[in-house]
Amino acid sequence: MTRHFLSVRDFSAEETLDTFALASEMKRAPARFAEALKGKALAMLFEKPSLRTRVSFDVGIQQLGGFSLYISPNEVSLGKRESIADVAKNLERMVQGIMIRTFGHAIVTEMAAHSHVPVVNGLTDTHHPCQGMADFLTIQEVKGKLEGVRVAYVGDGNNVAHSLIEAAARVGAHIAIGCPEGYDPNAGIVAWGRENGAASVTVTHDPAAAVAGADVVYADVWASMGQESEAAARKAIFVPFQVNDELFGKAKPDAIFMHCLPAHRGEEVTASVIDSARSVVFQQAENRLHVQKAILKKLMS
Ligand code: CP
Ligand code: NVA
Repeated sequence: MTRHFLSVRDFSAEETLDTFALASEMKRAPARFAEALKGKALAMLFEKPSLRTRVSFDVGIQQLGGFSLYISPNEVSLGKRESIADVAKNLERMVQGIMIRTFGHAIVTEMAAHSHVPVVNGLTDTHHPCQGMADFLTIQEVKGKLEGVRVAYVGDGNNVAHSLIEAAARVGAHIAIGCPEGYDPNAGIVAWGRENGAASVTVTHDPAAAVAGADVVYADVWASMGQESEAAARKAIFVPFQVNDELFGKAKPDAIFMHCLPAHRGEEVTASVIDSARSVVFQQAENRLHVQKAILKKLMS
């Protein structure tokens, strides 16, 4: 059966840890994997902008001996020019993998339902699984462990927060979400995390309570792609959730700062935190490359 990677929960706990081990090996000795996906084509469909996702998948598939095709938002017009099912049924005849970044999560599940080649989610409104995987690989590198690590995510209960909850469950970490009222993460995903291995999943509207004693403090933009019209209203609501020196100071003294990027300095995080020695945001960005190579190899081999 074709395996897809639409959310972190598509990999078991064992597969998640295996993926980190493979990604670490690929990072250490990339040449060993130069022909792992020789001649294979990855179609990359983007309905939203990207820097990291586009570059890391493009470079990643090439480092594995394959190649990518970038398909811009206007070219395919998913569901408008052509149905999602028909796009999948065409692509599977020509490529060996599909990466898609889009809006509704149902678009990627429908694509996967009609595709006999693996579909990888490069971000939807509900999940950003490759980000969550890169983030926990980074935590493993810096903290030397995953189980029992305390991650505090401060901000909107969004796609990134959801993937962090699912990844925390897969590795047995604690995750605390500190968000304004009305911006809670999806209750079903929180419940799934609690039932599937997270050391704990806490949702609080008090940012200081979320960050207290954390090993990792994580921030993301207050308005995600597709929510641009809400940006001004959200700015006023989210101010108490800014990760600044005072809030970061409530975490453990050796806590690290993480952000999926792009970041808005002076909004969700101050320059004093994101540009400090305790920030690992560019290590995170680099790990997108390594972890996605491991995911592609697992799915497309
Ligand atoms: N973090 C992330 O997915 O970055 P891009 O939106 O630039 O791909
Ligand atoms: N939550 C952000 C993440 C960007 C990588 C968004 O969806 O825009």
